[in-house]
Amino acid sequence: MSLLKYFGSRLFVENSSVVNLTKKNKTPFYVYSENQIKKNYLKLAKNFKSTSPLICFATKANSNLSIIKILGKLGAGADVVSGGELLKALKAGIKPNKIVFSGVGKTEEELKLAIQKKILLINIESESEARLLNDIGRKFNRKISVGFRLNPDVDAKTNKKISTGKSENKFGISIKNFYAIYKDRKQFKNLRIDALSVHIGSQILSDTPYKKTLNVLLKVINNLQIKLKYIDLGGGFGISYEKKNKEINLNKYAKLVHNFKKKLNCNIIFEPGRSLVGNAGILVSKIQYIKKGPNKYFIILDAGMNDFMRTALYDAKHEILPVNRISKKFSGALEFAGPVCESTCKFTTYKNYQKINEGDFVAITNAGAYGSSLSSNYNVRPLIAEILITKNKFKIIRKRQNLLKLISA
Ligand code: LLP
Repeated sequence: MSLLKYFGSRLFVENSSVVNLTKKNKTPFYVYSENQIKKNYLKLAKNFKSTSPLICFATKANSNLSIIKILGKLGAGADVVSGGELLKALKAGIKPNKIVFSGVGKTEEELKLAIQKKILLINIESESEARLLNDIGRKFNRKISVGFRLNPDVDAKTNKKISTGKSENKFGISIKNFYAIYKDRKQFKNLRIDALSVHIGSQILSDTPYKKTLNVLLKVINNLQIKLKYIDLGGGFGISYEKKNKEINLNKYAKLVHNFKKKLNCNIIFEPGRSLVGNAGILVSKIQYIKKGPNKYFIILDAGMNDFMRTALYDAKHEILPVNRISKKFSGALEFAGPVCESTCKFTTYKNYQKINEGDFVAITNAGAYGSSLSSNYNVRPLIAEILITKNKFKIIRKRQNLLKLISA
């Protein structure tokens, strides 16, 4: 994470010392770097410059209003998957004509909201959804611009739990079913098929699955001789969580997308989430207790799986850095764990670590995406604060939840 640096023994986010943050704020809390988010967006936009895509930030990765605003000001649109995310994107100032709406289970209420707000695109994921949307369009006396999300049956070669483009996954419509729907399109008089969309998975580290997906799309479009305004290629760009996994090389993919666009003469949309915010956030936590187990020490943090779910859900590896670095070694292996009453409430394990003590602080790295947005009140624990670093100032962009309010029902 380039935003994190040690100056002497102290860990800094940009120009802010994490120790200072812990003096002024109760742990655990998230810290984000505005500069890193901007860098990530501009890097992605530059990489795909020749196709001038609309980059719709997948707000599920981090739905904090201030974060959406930062990206919106740079020109990003939003990819939303619920009425709540849609309202948040609008509140953050994203223009409706830059918002796309995906998801397998959109309700009638959510679809109506999307139509009333006149968003750019609703990506339909089933024939039943198409029928419902068509009925709503008829009632509103409107022809609605839609995309169909295809399931290309491509293996994204990522963690099984975050793969979405294989036939066994619930997402999108199979190519065969899309052909049937397209043949029968006259029954959807109130829909205008303006787009096709795909999203094959998340944390993808190779361009091969993307290449395969583009080929599937080309085949479908050529077979049907269909003219589209947009192709929404989804998100999924992987980041480097561990030294051993490199970031995806998007240069190669950009060239493929450039040629793809030239062939089809349509606008390209992307829906990145993780790659825009993942490396821009850390979770700062205090060591509550150190207890000796038979084979390793348990380092019990005050952050739990309710605050940060990725390890419990996906066995995700996140490096944990001491906020105060010293050269003295810890004697023995250790496992960072949280206070929640579940065996999966644990984080990374280390064979070698520096000497740490109860009351010290640590930072769980690369926690900007699917950290806060996946958190919950499990064990009646309040949602934690979120802090944004802008240059050398910090601002609380979400207050820690009030425990008294939390126990009201
Ligand atoms: N578009 C759609 C339709 C999606 O379902 C997703 C992610 C994205 C875009 C953004 O994907 P990204 O660029 O962030 O990879 N909680 C999991 C990730 C779940 C991703 C769900 N869909 C994790 O922490 O790894």
